[in-house]
Amino acid sequence: MRLEGKHIILGITGSIAAYKAALLIRLFRKEGAEVQVIMTPAAKEFITPLTLATLSQKPVISEFFAQADGSWNSHVDLGLWADLMIVAPASASTIAKMAHGVADNMLITTYMSMKAPTMVAPAMDLDMFAHHTTQRNLKILQEDACPIIEPQSGFLASGLEGKGRMEEPEAILEHVVAFLK
Ligand SMILES: Cc1cc2nc3c(=O)[nH]c(=O)nc-3n(C[C@H](O)[C@H](O)[C@H](O)COP(=O)(O)O)c2cc1C
Repeated sequence: MRLEGKHIILGITGSIAAYKAALLIRLFRKEGAEVQVIMTPAAKEFITPLTLATLSQKPVISEFFAQADGSWNSHVDLGLWADLMIVAPASASTIAKMAHGVADNMLITTYMSMKAPTMVAPAMDLDMFAHHTTQRNLKILQEDACPIIEPQSGFLASGLEGKGRMEEPEAILEHVVAFLK
């Protein structure tokens, strides 16, 4: 098991590729890692917290606090717990927020509290990926020492073909294992 004892925060954003995050959790767990999922509110439209909580065997974190009882999630504790954060899939919006410190959800506040590195696996349509704002924001993240796992070219959920498909979960696992070595 190549990730034995590692603590991984998996950030999931509002992209069709969110279904691949379920496979990623299984792969990380099979390699011995503990996985804490943090979803943006938009991500919940694409895959259910129930699926992700079941696969990770931990309640999914998404909101800052629970309306019902006022209990709240500590991004600071999460930042101390993790050996790695990986945002997969990373939407254009989340990449922009990470690059500019727009801390308006749990995923970004946790990213900004991380003591360990954060990897980013972008997923979006070819035009959004090629757009100068996305490219500029990815450059900022790279300069901020966030490794970027390049998306692949191929058929996109929009029906178009081009670069923007999130890297496959098995390949992301290999990037993570190599990075943490
Ligand atoms: C069907 C559908 C698919 C989408 N797929 C993507 C995507 O792959 N990448 C992306 O950057 N945005 C995508 N979006 C737009 C995002 O969901 C939207 O920008 C959202 O605000 C992202 O929020 P988040 O980054 O906080 O999760 C999609 C929207 C819809 C309706």
